Amino acid sequence: MLDKVKALIEEVKQFETESHEELEKFRIKFLGKKGVLTDLFAEFKNVEPQLKKDFGQALNELKVSANNKINDFKSGLEQAQTKSSLGDLTRPSEPIELGSRHPISLVKNQIIEVFSKIGFNVSEGPEIEDDWHNFTALNLPEYHPARDMQDTFFIEKNPDILLRTHTSSVQTRYMESHKPPIRTLSPGRVFRNEDISARAHCIFHQVEGLYIDKDVSFADLKQTLLYFTKEMFGKSKIRLRPSYFPFTEPSAEVDIYWGLETETDYRITKGTGWLEIMGCGMVDPNVLKNANIDPNEYTGYAFGMGIERIAMLLYQIPDIRMFYENDTRFLEQFKSVL
Ligand code: PHE
Repeated sequence: MLDKVKALIEEVKQFETESHEELEKFRIKFLGKKGVLTDLFAEFKNVEPQLKKDFGQALNELKVSANNKINDFKSGLEQAQTKSSLGDLTRPSEPIELGSRHPISLVKNQIIEVFSKIGFNVSEGPEIEDDWHNFTALNLPEYHPARDMQDTFFIEKNPDILLRTHTSSVQTRYMESHKPPIRTLSPGRVFRNEDISARAHCIFHQVEGLYIDKDVSFADLKQTLLYFTKEMFGKSKIRLRPSYFPFTEPSAEVDIYWGLETETDYRITKGTGWLEIMGCGMVDPNVLKNANIDPNEYTGYAFGMGIERIAMLLYQIPDIRMFYENDTRFLEQFKSVL
């Protein structure tokens, strides 16, 4: 009898497994309700009294070792399973590739930040526009020769629908749905029927600004532009050259004094030291009238600039086409910015 128990203890010692099923079979054999231990404990009462002590000890040893064996293998098998499904949890992690913002987004955000400090909000509108919002409401009626300055893409069957040529169309919409005072910045993608070259593209991005309130004057416009060029480029000398836009009167081109310190300065300013960065002017009374704003009560200024042009300046990018090629060797260079 005792030998039988000892043999069973030896069997428990020898037992090894790599599967849950075998471990379960082992458990049922030894510890199950109808298992070996149940039978042996039942036989215990038939054992002669002088053998009871040894037999009892052996039985206990068998029970404890079977229990330990099961627990050991159970945790071992569980660990092996997590290892195989998750790999080695102590290995160094895979490096995470950080992306970068596109230079157009970087510059757009910078411009928005500068103007948000003086109370401008951001407004957006559709890229597919109608004639009214892109041209007619902005004092550019059909057959007006100034439309040639901004030729775009029309739908043949319905020439009233077009791709916007400037985000001034957003300003038109904004004036229709908001009452002055208005102080809004309209960034976005615009389209023009232009030959693609190093300096021009048929798709580019703009930020335009509009400020309408009582007693807004040209002096306000100039001071705002000065503030902007200081914040954006660190330059505090600007000049306004008379120009023409159908929706502003008077109109001007804004040049900043870039300087002539380096060879690059010479190249980008064509030897003059001056650089044109945007168009601006006082909102034409007709434009206000078209939006149901009384020009006798309100005046305003507007300005508009190309984001690519400013990004090319700031980062010395030689060719506008580089913005749209999605070449990661180009884009990766902006990882460190902001
Ligand atoms: N909308 C003009 C353009 O795209 C820029 C501009 C905006 C000029 C506002 C003057 C005032 O060329």
